[in-house]
Amino acid sequence: MATTRLLAKLRATVVGFSILIILTVAHVGAAKAHLDFESSSPSNKAELNKSIKKITLTFTNPGQPVGSGIVLYDQDGNQRTTQLSTPDSGQTWVVEADERLRSGAYGVKWKVAAPDSHPKSGKLTFSIVEAGTSSGPADSSPTSTAQLEEALTEVVPVAAQWVRWLGLAFVITGCLTSVGGLIILVFVIAGRPPELRRLLNTVRLGAAVVIGGTLIQVWADSSLRQEGDWFAAIRTGNVLEILGQDGYVWPIALRLVGAVLLIAGLAMKTRVAPSVAQPRESSETFEAVDVARSPLALVGAVGLLISFLFDGHTVTTTPRWLVMVSDVSHVLAAATWTAGLLFLTIVLFQRKTSKQRYDGSYMAIRFSSLASLSVALVGLSGAAMAWVILEYPSQLWTTSWGQLLVLKVLLVTVVSAMGTYNHFRLLPLLKSDIHVDLSSRSMDANPSKTSDAGGLLSVATVDVGKDAEIASQRLLRTVAFELVILVVVVAVTALLVNAATVT
Ligand code: HEM
Repeated sequence: MATTRLLAKLRATVVGFSILIILTVAHVGAAKAHLDFESSSPSNKAELNKSIKKITLTFTNPGQPVGSGIVLYDQDGNQRTTQLSTPDSGQTWVVEADERLRSGAYGVKWKVAAPDSHPKSGKLTFSIVEAGTSSGPADSSPTSTAQLEEALTEVVPVAAQWVRWLGLAFVITGCLTSVGGLIILVFVIAGRPPELRRLLNTVRLGAAVVIGGTLIQVWADSSLRQEGDWFAAIRTGNVLEILGQDGYVWPIALRLVGAVLLIAGLAMKTRVAPSVAQPRESSETFEAVDVARSPLALVGAVGLLISFLFDGHTVTTTPRWLVMVSDVSHVLAAATWTAGLLFLTIVLFQRKTSKQRYDGSYMAIRFSSLASLSVALVGLSGAAMAWVILEYPSQLWTTSWGQLLVLKVLLVTVVSAMGTYNHFRLLPLLKSDIHVDLSSRSMDANPSKTSDAGGLLSVATVDVGKDAEIASQRLLRTVAFELVILVVVVAVTALLVNAATVT
């Protein structure tokens, strides 16, 4: 009966996943390319000899004016009344002045939101000398256009950009902890019930951090559109405006709903792990969390995972299939690696402080193969993403985005080197311990009797177990250090994703 119910739940989960993924693929497949300024009429710095009434701005892709929008200024820095219209759903914007523009200098300041939600801004200037007049450019000495220049100067809301970065860093940290945490709970961890409860709480905390980070990011994005005005940013109309922005709502909704489902779906359901996980003290039983019993949590985790397909440079990069496959596998592998290190650190640290045996063998051995796979996948998928995002290899050292990526790869190399040390130096020591445990399993495969086997073996393997305990202590030190470096990697990743363009 229990198996049938579990199968039904798993079926429902698979159907839920499939619908979510089909919807995502359909939407992301339709995502548009990056928006950039293409041309204008009159062109930048043009000198015209007759009055005009309309200025046309053309972009590489459709976008919407945001914040101050598209504004026309005259030579004295005064804003002119205009009408905005677009003949082709946002790719071309026509600025029509209420009266003809006569001799003088003029400037247009524009801020348009790209499909991937990063607003782009720019300006252009031109001058008019109508035939038979002596005013205008003849008069446009540097001092006479100073007010126009001042009006066109863009106020960069630096604080809002940093708050957006912070929100993104929270979102990434929370997603890696909660999605990766579930994977690690299923495939790696065997522990005492209080340890499992703490890890489940960490997964829930990760999901809560995603919610907080997402809200911070929306606030900062709205503030960026309002020229850094934090109060205007939370006005309902402005929040709705940003949420209505093409494609913006998808990652936000997936993160909020995904995190709520994950928190709601996680019930503390455990089952006894195989005998190999038993510690030597016969009175104790190690357990593992059975996440398959929480389909809601799994759906939430998938929502969080695919939310990354909707922001960052991956939204605007082609070929779509390569971007999507590498993005999902990158985040999945990064989550497994990061959460694995975090959870091992938590369990081993808790055992150290409560003066219990480390018993790290079982977890370390299982994590080691998963970590090797994750490192390979993270490197491959990360390289694939860098390859599609960068136009020229030289951007790796000539642009700040490229330099940040190089820094990220260097940091990851350090962590991988420490992982290799764990694999080749510590794991053999830990394995020598677990080897005896495995033989105990073949002696007695009945989990109900495992405590007897565990008790017997604790006498037989006391020396080997001591080596493994020392190795476990060292393991705690190295995984904690690796974790600290990965936190910096996450901060750098948030900078990469936060950058509007590869410049
Ligand atoms: C050799 C190693 C790595 C390379 C080459 C690499 C490369 C990249 C690139 C190019 C991006 C896209 C950035 C953007 O959208 O502007 C990215 C995103 C990301 N990386 Fe890495 N990365 C590596 C390792 C890692 C590690 C170890 C982690 C985990 C801590 C990680 C976590 C992420 C996350 C969460 C994203 C965001 C994905 C998105 O926004 O779609 N990466 N990485």
